[in-house]
Amino acid sequence: MRETFTKSMARNIYYGGAVFFFLLFLALTYDTHQVLPSGDNHEAINEVVALGKKVWEENDCIGCHTLLGEGAYFAPELGNVYTRFGESTDAIKLFIKSRPAKGVPGRRSMPQFNLTDEELEAIAQFLKYVDGIKTARDWPPNIQG
Ligand code: HEC
Repeated sequence: MRETFTKSMARNIYYGGAVFFFLLFLALTYDTHQVLPSGDNHEAINEVVALGKKVWEENDCIGCHTLLGEGAYFAPELGNVYTRFGESTDAIKLFIKSRPAKGVPGRRSMPQFNLTDEELEAIAQFLKYVDGIKTARDWPPNIQG
């Protein structure tokens, strides 16, 4: 084995490494673009959905729930509640409307928010919109969220 490490050997490692990792970078960039979802459903956003997001924020739903994984882990994931409730905005509205005023005795449960009919419709449409977002790898992974 040769004992000396020549300048040209160092140069080859330098340029060879640079080319190798640049090609690797391009390949991984290409791969990432293949697995990214092809598009979203922002054309589904309208005034009602926008009002629903406001209702969602003003009532701090995320203080208990997660939405597509973000939020608090106290209550069920709501990113797919529209699918879970049989693709029915009425079922969502009914659930939110029917919460007991004083909560379920003995445990912390979903409070009664006393939303107006307009706000109820808006929050249901907002949750329907979120359910339609094309997330990577179809997240949430199962119907329970
Ligand atoms: C204090 C915590 C808390 C807040 C705040 C809260 N929720 Fe809930 N929510 C719950 C809990 C707990 C449940 C599970 C059912 C139960 O125990 O009442 C639930 C269940 C639900 C469900 C049914 C989910 C399922 O799969 O059964 C929907 C829909 C829902 N909440 C919507 C909302 C919306 C919309 C808001 C904001 C306006 C909100 N929640 C705010 C605690 C909360």
